[in-house]
Amino acid sequence: MPHIPVLYQEVLDILQPQPGTLFIDGTLGAGGHTEGLLAAAPDTRVLAFDRDPEAIRFVAERLHGYGDRLTLVNHNFADLGTVAPQYRFDQVDGILLDLGLSSRQLDSQERGFSFRFDAPLDMRFNPTQGPGAADLVNNLSEIELADIFWQYGEERRGRKIAQAIIQARPIQTTRQLADLVAGLVKRPPGRSTIHPATQVFQALRIAVNDELGALARVLPEGIKLLKPGGRIAIISFHSLEDRMVKQFLRQQSANRAATPNDPYHRYQPVSPALRLITSKPITASAAEIAQNPRSRSAKLRAGEKL
Ligand SMILES: C[S@@+](CC[C@H](N)C(=O)[O-])C[C@H]1O[C@@H](n2cnc3c(N)ncnc32)[C@H](O)[C@@H]1O
Repeated sequence: MPHIPVLYQEVLDILQPQPGTLFIDGTLGAGGHTEGLLAAAPDTRVLAFDRDPEAIRFVAERLHGYGDRLTLVNHNFADLGTVAPQYRFDQVDGILLDLGLSSRQLDSQERGFSFRFDAPLDMRFNPTQGPGAADLVNNLSEIELADIFWQYGEERRGRKIAQAIIQARPIQTTRQLADLVAGLVKRPPGRSTIHPATQVFQALRIAVNDELGALARVLPEGIKLLKPGGRIAIISFHSLEDRMVKQFLRQQSANRAATPNDPYHRYQPVSPALRLITSKPITASAAEIAQNPRSRSAKLRAGEKL
């Protein structure tokens, strides 16, 4: 199934591409949103990041017709602040982050993101960098694994699952892990169609790719690169990310008192960096959810540089 961009029109409405505007797409994926930005107005230019070399290859071919209006970089968006200025994207009109994984990654039979296929337990966005999910599952302690399942998956049976993993390891494949979890987590029949290993897989993916660490780094870097009036739009898919985004946008758009280690300014308001565009998150319409069930959990928040 090709990737269907989530909240596509809503993102374009916020970023408002005009002739000659500059955008950074931190999460290229299959290039759906990037293509929208390039097609919406003449001479828009996009610098697009993806950690996944396969995504870069795929879009390089798919959107090659846009020539030098599109620059693709195989980097972590956490490095936005140093990488973007190298390409002269340091005063941009908009930044988009569409977090998480793409349908291409989820539908890949080899990458280990899905329990639907038996594959090596990997889950790295960049398969050439860092330890994969099997390394975590086979080397972390019971407490560390339980923490990951609870913190990143909100899996209440994380402790029990971690115990069973320790007894069963080594675990090398998605099928082994999915079967082990399914054997432990019995959902009452008819209550849910969600696979019992969904939260464990999500949690491992977030840990393997340090997704929350990358988000914490990119948000402050991103707003430094916006020109006044430039906008940042972020789509998140689970509550941990959404909470971080919400708090960051609120904090940057409020009149903040300076911190106690800044006693000189202590009681003076610091001028906010952003105007909040979305006081509540934008979510997908019923029609979009019917067409693309993945959009059900998407939340879009945005701010404008002052
Ligand atoms: C939901 S998809 C983006 C889909 C895209 N908006 C589209 O329309 O096709 C997320 C993409 O972001 C990439 N990604 C996730 N975290 C990243 C990070 N920290 N740095 C760069 N790319 C990242 C993933 O590899 C994946 O391809």
